[in-house]
Amino acid sequence: MIIVKAQNYDEISKKAASYIAAQVQLKPACVLGLATGSTPCGTYQELIRYHREEGLSFQKVRTINLDEYYGLPATHEQSYSHFMRKNLFDHIDILAENTHVPDGLATNPNAFGREYDELIASLGGIDMQLLGIGSNGHIAFNEPGNCFVAQTRLVDLNQNTIEDNARFFESAEEVPRQAISMGMKSILGAKRILILASGKGKADAVKGMLEGSVDPLLPASILQLHQNVTLIADLAALSQTAESVLQS
Ligand code: F6R
Repeated sequence: MIIVKAQNYDEISKKAASYIAAQVQLKPACVLGLATGSTPCGTYQELIRYHREEGLSFQKVRTINLDEYYGLPATHEQSYSHFMRKNLFDHIDILAENTHVPDGLATNPNAFGREYDELIASLGGIDMQLLGIGSNGHIAFNEPGNCFVAQTRLVDLNQNTIEDNARFFESAEEVPRQAISMGMKSILGAKRILILASGKGKADAVKGMLEGSVDPLLPASILQLHQNVTLIADLAALSQTAESVLQS
C-alpha cells in the first residue's frame, strides 16, 4: 500500500481530487467508485473546482456508489443518493443516467445486490474506487464480523456506526439500522483504490489496517491483499501508526 501523508484535511482533499482528475483525463469514460460521508466532501468540492475552472469534463464518466441506507427513498435528505447530487453530481456535467447509487427501497435487497454486482461487471469493473474508513475499520458498510462477504447485500449497521452517523440526523434513533452495501468482491475488483482517512478518530482503524493481520474484525485490512491501494491520510489519522510502517 502506498501511504501519502497530508498535513491536514484540506491537503487530503486536494491530493485525492488530483488522482481522480488524472484518472478522468486519462480515461474519460472511466468507472469511478464513489463514497459518501464527511471525508470525501472536500475531494468533491475540489473536483467541482476542476470542472468549473479547469474544464474537467465528466460527461463520459460512469459512477457506482458504495452504499445506501435501507428504507430511505432517494429523495430523503440523508439518503446517499441525495448526498451525491448535493455534493457532486448537481455541480458537474455528469449524465444522471451514468450515476448509480443502490436503491434504498429495493423490495428484495439481496437480489438487488446481485444485480448491482452484475452491473459493475457489465461496466467493465471499477477503474478507481474512492473509500473512507469507519472508526471501527469498516469499508463501505462491510462491518467487523467473523468473515469477509463478497456480495453486495443488505447489512445490519453496527451500534458504533449508528452512533458515528447520528451527527447527520436529529438523533441516533433516526439513523437507519440497515444499508445496502457493496461487498468485498466488487471493491477488491477495482483496478485502483484510494482510501482517505482524516482525524484522530480514524487513527486506531488506520493502524489496524496497516499493521494488523488481514482480519474480518477490521474489514479495511483486506486492502492489504490488493495490488494498487493508495492511502491518503493526515497526520492525526496516522498518529497511532508505527514510524517503521510509514517509512516502508
Ligand atoms: C460511505 C461509506 C463509509 C464511510 C465511513 C467513513 O459511503 O462507505 O464506509 O466511508 O463510514 O465515514 P466518514 O467519512 O463520515 O467518517
